[in-house]
Amino acid sequence: MAGRVALVTGGTSGIGAASAEALLAAGYRVAANFGANEAAARAFLGRTGIPVFSWDVADGAACIAGVEAVEKALGPIDVLVNNAGITRDAMLHKMDAGQWKQVMDVNLGGCFNMCRAVIEGMRARRFGRVINISSVNGLSGQAGQTNYAASKAGIIGFTKSLALEGASRNITANVIAPGYIDTPMVAAVPAAVMDDILKTVPAGRLGRPEEIARAVVFLAADEAGFITGITLSVNGGKYLG
Ligand code: CAA
Repeated sequence: MAGRVALVTGGTSGIGAASAEALLAAGYRVAANFGANEAAARAFLGRTGIPVFSWDVADGAACIAGVEAVEKALGPIDVLVNNAGITRDAMLHKMDAGQWKQVMDVNLGGCFNMCRAVIEGMRARRFGRVINISSVNGLSGQAGQTNYAASKAGIIGFTKSLALEGASRNITANVIAPGYIDTPMVAAVPAAVMDDILKTVPAGRLGRPEEIARAVVFLAADEAGFITGITLSVNGGKYLG
């Protein structure tokens, strides 16, 4: 929507980068947050012209400062895409508390921190679009991902609650649950494991980041104001629950 401001966390690679680019193409003024990968962020900025901002979404104070910096540069944030996420896969009997905490702090804590940082402004302006990126594995579960699946399922309950809170202020909150998408995160899965996973995808292929970005742009639209609290699966048929 011409002139509206969108912020995408984890926005310089994978699903986040595709979402930021799609929002730009749709007429939004876009900012992309990133964590630590300076080289990827510089390449993304060079390729797209989308300004990049570095902070750790697991750090609440850093999120507040980051939102202030984005709003100073572009104006009040209308659309927040919480995409930043990590995996620390291990079977539970081999998982340590650090692997649990890191994933919960970034994936679910980051969602809280970022929503908290923008929500008062959205309420005051009586407009907001919050889009939280969950995962098929938050719906279906996945061996080796008790931490990740818990964080991604948590995002769904969080988002439904925020949807109820925001509805009277024209703030929508929705989840997108991607399946296995062709991103660096999925590329890190051992090849033999990935071959087995692909056999369980009816579409018979990985999704493309652009196929998630299309859902982001759909939910971000002014015209999507009556869609709130949903979980939109984009997973090639892998899980239909
Ligand atoms: N279901 C049930 N049991 C499984 C299993 C599965 N899918 N995969 C492995 N196991 C079992 C093995 O059979 C084995 O059992 P036994 O000890 O009884 O023989 C046991 O688990 C240990 O297997 P490994 O020796 O292979 O275990 P490991 O510790 O080397 O590796 C793992 C385990 C790290 C979880 C590895 O299997 C893995 O990386 N799996 C991929 C997990 C995954 O899908 N991650 C998604 C990342 S992408 C993403 O998250 C994006 C998104 O949103 C979709």
